[in-house]
Amino acid sequence: MKIIDEQNDRNSSNEFVRQPVLGVLCLAIVILCFSSAAMGQADGQKLFESRCYSCHNIGGGDKQGPDLKGVTDRRTTEWIAEFTRSPAAMRSKDPVAAELFKKFAPTIMPDQSLTPDELTAIIDLIKNLSAKNEMFVPAGAKLARAIVPGDIEAGEKLFTGQTKLAAGAASCNSCHGVSGTGVLGGGTLGPDLTAANIKYRDPELISILQNPNFPTMNTIFTNHKLTDEEVVQLFAFLQNAKLTHPNAAVVPTQAAATTQPGFLILGFGTATLALIVMNLFWRRRSHGVRRDMVRRAKI
Ligand code: HEC
Ligand code: HEC
Repeated sequence: MKIIDEQNDRNSSNEFVRQPVLGVLCLAIVILCFSSAAMGQADGQKLFESRCYSCHNIGGGDKQGPDLKGVTDRRTTEWIAEFTRSPAAMRSKDPVAAELFKKFAPTIMPDQSLTPDELTAIIDLIKNLSAKNEMFVPAGAKLARAIVPGDIEAGEKLFTGQTKLAAGAASCNSCHGVSGTGVLGGGTLGPDLTAANIKYRDPELISILQNPNFPTMNTIFTNHKLTDEEVVQLFAFLQNAKLTHPNAAVVPTQAAATTQPGFLILGFGTATLALIVMNLFWRRRSHGVRRDMVRRAKI
């Protein structure tokens, strides 16, 4: 009797041990499922931030490209997949795409190489936010530290190339100007950035500094990223440009190569100088010739 009791006890205690093990197993599976779902979501966020956000908002309005809020209602998943793979190929055969190209010209969306999983993650993100009527907020587009007064000047030096960019990229003013900066006003390959922080909200501009996904810029900056410090200082400089020029004109992104006054003056000056120099030589030469002719005529 006693022995049986003991056995019963042991059995029941065994069951007691087995049940929690089962429970823990179930819990682990549930956590795994949820965390992989959460990871998918996080991936979509990260991908969108680093690959699409320079040009697209979800719910924040058009940028270089259309706001993608509700795009999954406007188009089928197949359309989005095909368009994203090769926008230019779509343009030639799809009237909707052709219309989009016309509207957003001259910006052209570059081909995006995404795995099917990556594209699904991005589409899910767009669907989710659109359904909830929420705007995409980039998690990483934050300054690494608060701005201090010296940052504006440090940022200007980075912009003009007085301080070299750590990763060795060309200075911003070889392609961009900001009012009141540099004698010649900067290059004109890229748009003037005086109003950059008016055109772009803070996180949008910070994200462009971190991941400029524009065709011209990403050829340089993908492999020569700005450091966190440089992002803070350049942002401070561009924010200051907005504060000191609150009415600066917001320029279309692909600014036409308008002639800057500085370059105009320089061009004029050089041409005038060249004329004066040529004239000096010419006069001497003609004098020489005339003197010769006069002498010969007298003979
Ligand atoms: C350099 C800017 C740029 C980048 C980067 C970019 N796009 Fe675009 N996107 C555009 C422009 C501009 C258009 C409008 C069509 C055109 O002119 O090419 C567009 C159109 C689209 C459309 C069609 C929108 C509609 O209303 O039908 C989708 C979808 C899209 N982009 C998805 C993406 C995704 C996803 C990414 C990131 C993986 C991305 N784009 C990255 C510029 C960009
Ligand atoms: C080689 C030339 C080049 C250099 C160097 C360059 N950019 Fe750009 N940037 C461009 C061009 C061109 C565009 C327009 C989009 C495109 O086609 O790439 C642009 C676009 C931008 C925009 C978006 C402007 C808008 O109105 O949409 C910002 C902001 C910007 N650049 C900031 C910078 C900063 C800050 C630096 C220096 C760290 C820099 N760029 C260096 C060529 C350049």
